[in-house]
Amino acid sequence: MDILIIGGTQFVGRHLAEAALEAGHKVTLFNRGKTGPGLYPEAEALVGDRDGNLDALKGRKWDVAFDPSGYLPRVVRQSAELLKDAVGRYVFISSISVYVDSNNADENSPLNVLDDPTSEDIPKHYGALKVACENVVTELYGERGLNARPGFIVGQYDSSPRMPGLLWRYNREGERLAGLPHQPVQMIHSRDMADWLLKAVEAGYHGAYNLTGHPIQMNQLLDTVIEVTGEPTTITYTDDEILKINDVQPVDGVGYWVPLEAQGYMQANVDKVFAAGYTERPLKQTITETLAWLRKDGFQNTALMEKIAARAISLEKEAEILAAWHNRVI
Ligand SMILES: NC(=O)c1ccc[n+]([C@@H]2O[C@H](COP(=O)([O-])OP(=O)(O)OC[C@H]3O[C@@H](n4cnc5c(N)ncnc54)[C@H](OP(=O)(O)O)[C@@H]3O)[C@@H](O)[C@H]2O)c1
Repeated sequence: MDILIIGGTQFVGRHLAEAALEAGHKVTLFNRGKTGPGLYPEAEALVGDRDGNLDALKGRKWDVAFDPSGYLPRVVRQSAELLKDAVGRYVFISSISVYVDSNNADENSPLNVLDDPTSEDIPKHYGALKVACENVVTELYGERGLNARPGFIVGQYDSSPRMPGLLWRYNREGERLAGLPHQPVQMIHSRDMADWLLKAVEAGYHGAYNLTGHPIQMNQLLDTVIEVTGEPTTITYTDDEILKINDVQPVDGVGYWVPLEAQGYMQANVDKVFAAGYTERPLKQTITETLAWLRKDGFQNTALMEKIAARAISLEKEAEILAAWHNRVI
């Protein structure tokens, strides 16, 4: 296939580019040339800005456009409209955050709606904006459009502070702080996602797909992390109360911990995508690959380490909370 990726050089787009190139497809990357320039010399690089300068895309044709870098409907409309008769299919990377309540949400569950349709506040209205982007793709492409709704994405090149922050803290000996051991955790390896999306395009799948793994439990995740790091580490499981009173940030603070009332967020229904041939690699493989990348590259990346410092608890704060936990009056 001739494949266009709008973006393609940070995380999800990199896995898409690598999966496509390895499968022998012809790949074109369209971006501003700022993030990871020259990463894939075997791909064609087109330079432009998806918000206002799409000239490099004009007069060209592709079998499919993957859009992993869209957050605003106004901007997604620009590429989706321009490419309407130039690509066979349009695949938008949306999010599981589209749902009002992800708890066991399937693809027909209620979606978030923007109170103010002109709002472009991405941090505040991330899920509702993704819904609006999806609507653009559905409106323009119908059965040629696919809206992929990933849960937390993990793997090499991860630019978020979640799994990298968790692995940074566990990449040493000592006592580690955690929430409840049986909390559900749901995630998808970016490369598994890319491999399935390529298959989905070839199979002509369309519409919305929740795209994440089967939920596992926190203790399964953390035991696997310790097995992979090989560090002499102990885990102290605590509870929501102590993490809340110490202002630990949900999700990023101690690695995927969320309070009980938010746990539905990691229990979306994935029946449709598994029935459509999605397969996930073993958790241990995911952690092994991600840690190897972090040790070689990610932990040296200033931007990533700054995000971790901003969102995850420090080692000093972790020690303080652990001391408070051990000294609590029961
Ligand atoms: N991380 C998660 O857990 C998670 C969960 C659910 C959904 N998602 C979704 O997954 C996607 C992740 O995307 P990613 O960042 O990893 O994708 P990516 O395609 O790997 O990286 C973003 C790309 O967009 C390009 N770009 C940024 N602004 C641009 C502009 N104005 N014009 C043209 N190109 C532009 C960047 O290159 P230049 O800077 O060079 O332009 C870069 O190539 C997002 O849609 C996110 O909402 C993530």
